[in-house]
Amino acid sequence: MKAAPIPALKRLMPTRVKSLAKDTFVNWKLRRAVKEINKLPAGEMPTAEMLVNLQIGWNNDGYVARTGYLSEVARHALTTAGPILECGSGLTSLLLGLLAGKRGVKTYSLEHMAEWRDRMNTSLNRCRIPNVQVELVSLKEHDGFTWYDALLATLQPQFALVICDGPPGHINGGRYGLLPLFGERLPSGSVILLDDADRAGEAEVMRRWQTEADLHIALHETANGSYAVLTRN
Ligand SMILES: C[S@@+](CC[C@H](N)C(=O)[O-])C[C@H]1O[C@@H](n2cnc3c(N)ncnc32)[C@H](O)[C@@H]1O
Repeated sequence: MKAAPIPALKRLMPTRVKSLAKDTFVNWKLRRAVKEINKLPAGEMPTAEMLVNLQIGWNNDGYVARTGYLSEVARHALTTAGPILECGSGLTSLLLGLLAGKRGVKTYSLEHMAEWRDRMNTSLNRCRIPNVQVELVSLKEHDGFTWYDALLATLQPQFALVICDGPPGHINGGRYGLLPLFGERLPSGSVILLDDADRAGEAEVMRRWQTEADLHIALHETANGSYAVLTRN
């Protein structure tokens, strides 16, 4: 008997089985991508293909950082002395753990969604990725803007690197709250990697930050979206 073609088999599968098959595939893809990066010699950059494999395994289209920003995060994660502050957890948290965490550099990641924090912890544990602490923090009204209620007392006194890809851009002030709330913990030479720098909200955040702090801003436009590297003078 001739075997049924794959698309025909797929149509016959119940939805639950299809979704289980997809979950199994993306989990396998994620573990394989993590393994590839784990095998890299110390200090070596993941290739673009490795980053794409990570994105496929992470399976969070629409919210995941694009490869231009992921490469920049990887470059800094390989060299920063840390510690690292991450605003908004996700694939970048895994990458930070794989490249900086493995060198003993710790990442503190702020996350406002409980189910997202749980997903992060499950993935970090399953893939045995070290030194990433995901902090569940609610979003709070501060002085004219909304931002994480950031447990200031329990986090590190200073950070060398900030991965700024949260909280969601649509809240009051978007990502602005980082500097008023954490500015004192960002010494001269510290770096902020701001994703989606071409969006109106992020451009406004950078404009406000520049009036409040001495920052060098380098904008990067790539085929895979734009981001900014801000260095505190
Ligand atoms: C832009 S995402 C952070 C992305 C992260 N840098 C990455 O590369 O995956 C910022 C926030 O969006 C929220 N988020 C992520 N995925 C989501 C989803 N599928 N649906 C709704 N919110 C999501 C989480 O709360 C997260 O902290």
